Amino acid sequence: MRLGFLASRNGSNMQAVVDACRAGKIAAAPAVVISNNPASGALQKARRLGIPACHLSAVTHPAPLELQRAIAQTLRRHKVDLVLLAGYMKKLGPAVLAAYRNRILNIHPSLLPAYGGRGMYGLAVHRAVLRAREKETGASVHLVDEQYDSGPVLAQTRLTVAADDDADSLAAKVLEREHALYVRTVAAIAAGEIRLP
Ligand code: GRF
Repeated sequence: MRLGFLASRNGSNMQAVVDACRAGKIAAAPAVVISNNPASGALQKARRLGIPACHLSAVTHPAPLELQRAIAQTLRRHKVDLVLLAGYMKKLGPAVLAAYRNRILNIHPSLLPAYGGRGMYGLAVHRAVLRAREKETGASVHLVDEQYDSGPVLAQTRLTVAADDDADSLAAKVLEREHALYVRTVAAIAAGEIRLP
């Protein structure tokens, strides 16, 4: 199984999955990392790891349809079987969704369907969790569809919100759990233990 990553940010989830592939914990190979952000940590990490790294964005492809086509072509060219969104801050268009229907995963730092959707990313998620005085939070891996954070949930991890947690401490704790959750979920898919529709 060949993995394609789409990432806009730091790329720590991407790195965790790549490390697990290289350690033999996931029966898959990282094939390509695509980012809309040429300065992203994700692209820097990909280059350091020796994985093909591409910047594809409205800067390289001003026409939205062309951009979506370029993303789909890049994934195909690298023979990607499964696409992992890992802190990717853009919505995917029909060309990519159709090419990889039910083969695109995302990780989100909440117990979806709670605290997902437009605007729910980064510290905003954890602030909302604290504002609602939730006792538990966590992270979810789900299949990607046309909407933000809305496809079927495949796996979740839960943790207790401590009385002295603030948004930053919660973000750090959840991110650490995300790495393990993404690795575990992709490993289960690669091993045929989780079957995608
Ligand atoms: C993670 O919290 C992920 O759930 C969200 O964006 C963040 C990306 O972090 N979608 P990183 O780039 O993997 O470090």
